[in-house]
Amino acid sequence: MEERFSKIIVKVGDITKEDADAIVNAANSSLLGGGGVDGAIHRAAGPDLLTECAGLGGCPAGEAKTTKGYRLPAEYVIHTVGPIWRGGGRGEEKTLENAYRNSLLEAVRVGAKTVAFPAISTGVYRFPPQRAAEIAVSTVAEFLGEHPEIEQIRLVCFSQESKEYHEAALRSLAGRQGSVD
Ligand code: APR
Repeated sequence: MEERFSKIIVKVGDITKEDADAIVNAANSSLLGGGGVDGAIHRAAGPDLLTECAGLGGCPAGEAKTTKGYRLPAEYVIHTVGPIWRGGGRGEEKTLENAYRNSLLEAVRVGAKTVAFPAISTGVYRFPPQRAAEIAVSTVAEFLGEHPEIEQIRLVCFSQESKEYHEAALRSLAGRQGSVD
């Protein structure tokens, strides 16, 4: 299997426990906290995270901004905003791809070598989870091919079903690449 695929780890877990250099938060455009993984990250990081976020002036969908991790094991939190699913006709897939890619560009900018992602937009934002997993895997695999400085990307799923979607997407992509090379 190509090296870049072996750098992608799919697991079930709580992203707030990940000891990666950076964990990615599926935030909303205010960056002022919320439910889901956003709420979990803010609870685990403590109130200083919200204080730093409040000074960032929000974040448009598809973009990413980085803060410290405070009480989290991770040194950094990369806050990104995924698309709200509205049926697929409003560029949601491209916005999700941008959220993954811009988060990884932030990781490179701050020198993070290991990055953990939740399944962005597949909760409150209702993006279809299988398609989201395909976009996640293809985007991070493409980025790893261009940025060998990233050592590992962990796709931290919150359910076995989500893990299986990501694993299937990874097998399919790695298999296709293998047949091509
Ligand atoms: N660790 C890892 N994954 C988690 C965790 C956790 N602790 N908690 C939830 N998840 C998973 C969800 O199961 C889902 O698969 O994260 C994925 C993203 O779901 P949400 O957190 O609902 O995020 P999203 O769908 O992107 O919606 C963002 O929700 O929490 C609010 O403020 C946030 O308004 C924003 C919106």
